[in-house]
Amino acid sequence: MKEFLKEAIAVALKSGEMIRRHVGKAKDISFKGAADLVTDVDKRSEALIKSYLAKKFPTHQFLGEEGGGDRTGCAYRWVVDPIDGTTNFVHDLPYFSVSIALESDCKPVLGVVYDPVHNELFHAVKGGGAFLNKKSIKVSKVKELKQSLLCTGFAYELKDTRDSNVEHFVDFLLAAQAIRRLGSASLDMCYVACGRFDGYWEVGLKPWDTAAALIILKEAGGKATKFNGSPYSHYDQEILVSNGLLHKKMEDVLMRRRRVRHCKVTFGKY
Ligand code: IPD
Ligand code: CA
Repeated sequence: MKEFLKEAIAVALKSGEMIRRHVGKAKDISFKGAADLVTDVDKRSEALIKSYLAKKFPTHQFLGEEGGGDRTGCAYRWVVDPIDGTTNFVHDLPYFSVSIALESDCKPVLGVVYDPVHNELFHAVKGGGAFLNKKSIKVSKVKELKQSLLCTGFAYELKDTRDSNVEHFVDFLLAAQAIRRLGSASLDMCYVACGRFDGYWEVGLKPWDTAAALIILKEAGGKATKFNGSPYSHYDQEILVSNGLLHKKMEDVLMRRRRVRHCKVTFGKY
């Protein structure tokens, strides 16, 4: 793992440096969906990471957001978001990251999340603790929702989904001290890992959004499940993340809304 981590950090820094050079400059933008942007820099970042890792570890497989992928099973596979927070990057809002995870048998065993603007590098290896710029990090100790700062995000398909997260957003707005929507799922989760946020939830994420941050969060003492408290995998659609102490309370808020919706659908016509 030491060698894998060293190279994952090296390529995250390299790609982060390339991305940083494009902040404040014109970008070549195309659309994957009505609100889902991709730039030439996302594609270049993925190509750089993919070829670097292929040279270092020729037997490993690769899955990247911008289409570079081996989707068959193998002992080791890199799962990469070359820019997590593309909309922010397009608008020069300094909150985006390079996210690199290594999966072993479909479970993340190593994660590196790099914010190139603030030069903050989060990393973790299974069983080895979590770090921000080489300093050990831990989740917060906040126990009450009323004292918590929470974060969330919204999927690009927001307008086409029934479970759009808007209702959960309103519920938490009333229950927590405050809510933020910053726009990079991997950084949002790393912010829970280092205690800046106390909890986070979202619907409609992809494996590359959460794989690296998931191991960082767990190694920092945090908890990640689906909304009903059942085990979360980075292939699941919904995620609830917390410092552990707030988990049940957040779960109750999310599930209360689900129950109300279920009752309306089931009994609404009577
Ligand atoms: C997006 C960001 C955002 C989240 C979206 C993701 P992208 O990833 O992580 O915070 O709300 O669901 O798709 O497209 O910028 O890599
Ligand atoms: Ca992305």
